[in-house]
Amino acid sequence: MKTKHPSVYRGAILHFHSDPAIDGESAVEYHEDGILIVDEGKIVAMGDAEPMLAELDHPANLVDYSGHLIIPGLIDSHIHFPQYEVIASYGEQLMDWLNQYTFPAESAFKDPRHALEIAELFLDELLRNGTTTAMVYASVHKSAVEAFFEVSKARNTRMLCGKVMMDRNAPAELCDTPESSYEDSKALIEKWHNNGRQQYVITPRFAITSTPEQLALAGKLHEEYPDTAIQTHISENQDEIAFVKQLYPAAQDYLDVYDQYGLVNQRSALGHGIHLSDRELQRIAESGAHIAFCPTSNLFLGSGLLDLKRLDDFGVRYSVATDVGGGTSFSMLRTLSEAYKICQLNHYKLDPLRSLYLATLGNARCLGLDDRIGSFKTGNEADFVVINHGATPLTKRKHSSANSLMEQLFNLITLGDDRAIYRTYIAGKLAYKAAEQADKE
Ligand code: GUN
Ligand code: ZN
Repeated sequence: MKTKHPSVYRGAILHFHSDPAIDGESAVEYHEDGILIVDEGKIVAMGDAEPMLAELDHPANLVDYSGHLIIPGLIDSHIHFPQYEVIASYGEQLMDWLNQYTFPAESAFKDPRHALEIAELFLDELLRNGTTTAMVYASVHKSAVEAFFEVSKARNTRMLCGKVMMDRNAPAELCDTPESSYEDSKALIEKWHNNGRQQYVITPRFAITSTPEQLALAGKLHEEYPDTAIQTHISENQDEIAFVKQLYPAAQDYLDVYDQYGLVNQRSALGHGIHLSDRELQRIAESGAHIAFCPTSNLFLGSGLLDLKRLDDFGVRYSVATDVGGGTSFSMLRTLSEAYKICQLNHYKLDPLRSLYLATLGNARCLGLDDRIGSFKTGNEADFVVINHGATPLTKRKHSSANSLMEQLFNLITLGDDRAIYRTYIAGKLAYKAAEQADKE
């Protein structure tokens, strides 16, 4: 094998080639005793340990994670970094929650030192939860986006982020103007888009906080930089939907507001989308946009139960996301557990292989990044996570009595959280190591 200084990781290894709901077993690659070979930050090869180790010239840097599970880094498709401390804010639904908790917290991001401090904490929290890539809302402040990208670039994490565009229905100190939001976003794209592993996302917050002029300029920006993604929120809450109707009386529905301004295409990430009509779902499917399913947020804010079966029936793509601070955990495992429960309430089974596909390759596909991350395809960036099934007495016991990979993974998704994350690697470098547990045996 022609590699310069390969690192070889041994353990159980799981990743996906495609969607197991479509392709069944052929979508899944699992090696109970496998190795992953990484060189210069990229995946070189993976497969069964014994034959591959025998073939290696210099198995110099062998890291033995036998007994643990190695999977691609988890991906969070919708999260707000200035809401790091908004998490667990009591008692309100969307519009009051925004006004009472979120906007005041986001106002503090005018101070770049605060933005830098929270960006560090936020990225620490992602990595200790095994999340290696996220699509992130910043605040309205250009300097907060700068702070986020500076911190992410220093860690070499692949992050997507954008300045919130918001010119009405928010406190005056949090409002930009159509022109300033366009100019600031453009300057940020020029400086940060594809700068190392950083990528820019055009980020009109939602129809309520943008004038038609601002949405038009967001659409123009995307036309000028078609390689950027777009993120916004849609149809999360009934009061929100009624307000959008008042603000955009000529639009045929909520989606049409964004569509009129060129904001609905295969690069668009639409947060929530719980209460969409058949027409809206048809149009989303046709456009190639996707819905970011945010289960812990949808439950916490009392927004509703997204019906994945209905999205499947319409052929709408979806990703899974935490939506912190509306969401209640940074852990994608916790998020998948709540996703399962929402599906139960809709009489739909979300099986654990599909769940882990969604949080890795599925999310990478929705973000247009499956040629770089989300699986252990040769040449991909080596972002990966080592899972400790035995992080708690209960998970250890459940793991030892599991009879199949499905059972192991369902235990992991249902009971797992940050404690299950043993190591997180970013582009082949160790970026997080769990504290060693006291050995009680
Ligand atoms: N809609 C507009 N802004 C937000 C936000 O910050 N969080 C959630 N959950 N929904 C939104
Ligand atoms: Zn959100």
